[in-house]
Amino acid sequence: MISYDKIEPRWLYRRQLKSHITAMAILKIARMGHPVLRVRAHEVVDPRGPQVLKLVDDMLETMIDADGRGLAATQVHVPLRVVIFQVPLDEDEEKNGSLTILVNPSIEKLTKEVEYDWEACLSVPELIGLVPRCPKIRYHGTTPVGVKVDCIAEGFHARVVQHECDHLDGFLYPQRMDDMSLLLFREEMRNGIPDEARRLMEDVDAE
Ligand code: NI
Repeated sequence: MISYDKIEPRWLYRRQLKSHITAMAILKIARMGHPVLRVRAHEVVDPRGPQVLKLVDDMLETMIDADGRGLAATQVHVPLRVVIFQVPLDEDEEKNGSLTILVNPSIEKLTKEVEYDWEACLSVPELIGLVPRCPKIRYHGTTPVGVKVDCIAEGFHARVVQHECDHLDGFLYPQRMDDMSLLLFREEMRNGIPDEARRLMEDVDAE
């Protein structure tokens, strides 16, 4: 049994031994209950290291294959502080949005109130839940090419960043919910949105 809280970031460098393997890879996604999803991931010592680029390549391939909007390194069994997500960064952007890669991200909440909206997660397959999140945040991080990121995000963008960064601290979205009756199998949404969910979402919109 691997002890995930004792793994050193250097384990990632084992990939160098396999220098004949250079293609991107679709990685296995950890599901709720796996210990790697419970630990606080380690800071990346060298965000510009080639191993980080390789990890990000594989995460991107994995996220696209799984049709996800975001992915944290812990979700692919790598306990390092790396997230990727693809969201429209402003209203002018096209539906699919830009890809953002953040190494060692941090978040500052800019409002005290919360907004409710549905979230899903590749580590919690088939379910969706209504999650309260801060609607406006500022986040920082570094890209794998060493660019400092300092961004203010609102709405869906802010939600995705909080969801992904939560993964790095061992939290899954159901742990952020305040009404577990609003954790549903996605398929059951065909029967309509629960009244309580509608009320919570409208309350916020009315403010
Ligand atoms: Ni997730």
